[in-house]
Amino acid sequence: MANYDLIVIGTGPGGYVCAIRAAQLGLKVAVVEKRKTHGGTCLNVGCIPSKALLHASELFDEAGHAFEKMGIKVGKPKLDLKTMMAFKQEAIDGNVKGIEFLLKKNKIDAVFGLGTILGPGRVQVTADDGSAQVIEATSIVIATGSDVAQLPGIAIDEKRIVSSTGALALDHVPGKLVVVGAGVIGLELGSVWRRLGAEVVVVEFLDRILPGMDSEVCRQFQRILERQGVTFKLGSKVAAIDASGKQLSLTVEPAAGGEASKIEADVVLVAIGRVPFTSGLGLEAVGVALDAKGRVVVDDHFATSVPGIFAIGDVIDGPMLAHKAEDEGVAVAELIAGRAGHVNYGIIPGVVYTAPEVASVGRTEDGLKRDGIDYKVGKFPFTANGRAKANQQTEGFVKVLADAATDRVLGVHIIGSDAGNMIAEAAIAMEFGASAEDIARTCHAHPTLPEAVKEAALAVDKRALHI
Ligand code: FAD
Ligand code: NAI
Repeated sequence: MANYDLIVIGTGPGGYVCAIRAAQLGLKVAVVEKRKTHGGTCLNVGCIPSKALLHASELFDEAGHAFEKMGIKVGKPKLDLKTMMAFKQEAIDGNVKGIEFLLKKNKIDAVFGLGTILGPGRVQVTADDGSAQVIEATSIVIATGSDVAQLPGIAIDEKRIVSSTGALALDHVPGKLVVVGAGVIGLELGSVWRRLGAEVVVVEFLDRILPGMDSEVCRQFQRILERQGVTFKLGSKVAAIDASGKQLSLTVEPAAGGEASKIEADVVLVAIGRVPFTSGLGLEAVGVALDAKGRVVVDDHFATSVPGIFAIGDVIDGPMLAHKAEDEGVAVAELIAGRAGHVNYGIIPGVVYTAPEVASVGRTEDGLKRDGIDYKVGKFPFTANGRAKANQQTEGFVKVLADAATDRVLGVHIIGSDAGNMIAEAAIAMEFGASAEDIARTCHAHPTLPEAVKEAALAVDKRALHI
């Protein structure tokens, strides 16, 4: 006789949301977590601390150059990094407490320790002190997330050679920070330390930043970041780091081969991606199949190769994003409870929380061209948006891509202040199968930044009003 209907291993955004939804549907649920706190990567060392530091460092930067022209005289801002880090910790603690409350409210049992699957329905939980217990359930959901991808031959010490985790907790502003990888982590955390005073150089393997995002948006984004003082070394890779001296010495090689050069740095942030985390789960013994990249293989219903064992979130295929993990958590809980759960992978927004923000949903123009899909494009710059002008935050534009024949919105890409909030409108429109005309005919409040989304939708048929 099983103790539970469902055991969820890992309480990141995928796992804890899955547990809550399953409990709402009447299942008896236990969660297993190896950290001391719930919330996974996202709350402890990911989304939440990075957004707290992005927010604080953006205000610090604005206080230094934007306040005075608005008539706000505060003098030159001084950085108290210890207090900024305490602000970040408070944000983490508040969110972690929120999850504890939600688990209790939904009568979900939380067991702390490393979860190892002994067989279908059986999970051993080993606590830090070595004591172990076995809990049983009809179904198991693996939601064990991801870990930092390492650069071969380069050891992360989280002091001088750091991953995102160390970069969120530096005790001083480095004189010079070299970021390896111009992806989301590199650009967000590079921005944080640039604003706080570091010289930042980003070394990227490819010849562009943010691979996978709309390339026109990214070209403008790179120019803006360069104006903010970030230097890019594209088409380059870090081959070695000599940590024997006072400064780190990096050997950087052209990606295409050729002569190496040296760069000095006080701190190096390795941000070249993340890898699925399955260590200690005992998957081989149970027969749960992994793909070549180490991800748990699942079918359309999140079922692994072993009946009764499911997987969601960063540990399976797809974008490594908290909201993707959450939606999968809801869907798998519904499926286990005998309902119809579903995730629309074509409409998962992605946001880079820099200043300006970059946000995207649906198809990119590059992808449509590649696939030979006939499309129309409407663009509208924030320089022509009243609210952006009032705020004097006019960098960026909105781009709406619509099917040439049906006018259905295929993708929306925004670079600009508050792009991350604005992309929600595009996601909802696309989820409802909207045409560009539908967005264009929807009344948008004035003066707001989302009026630029409406204007870009109008521009799809060359009838934008304010340009
Ligand atoms: P995780 O959050 O990684 O949680 C997995 C949990 O499982 C962990 O708590 C782990 O301790 C636990 N676990 C693992 N193995 C076991 C085991 N055997 N037994 C018990 N417990 C186990 N995404 C966004 O959408 N927006 C953002 O702004 C954003 N910012 C980010 C910033 C940074 C610096 C980083 C690193 C990531 C960021 N992400 C962001 C990505 C986001 O954090 C992940 O996509 C998300 O956390 C994945 O959720 P998950 O539930 O799959 O896994
Ligand atoms: P990423 O996959 O976004 O970017 C990694 C970058 O490193 C790529 O541009 C890649 O070309 C480059 N790269 C790879 N190997 C390299 C090498 N040897 N030398 C130089 N460059 C190299 O990965 P990142 O930034 O580490 O983020 C990991 C995950 O976390 C992402 O999947 C992202 O979705 C998630 N995340 C999401 C955030 C958000 O939603 N705002 C914020 C931070 C992370």
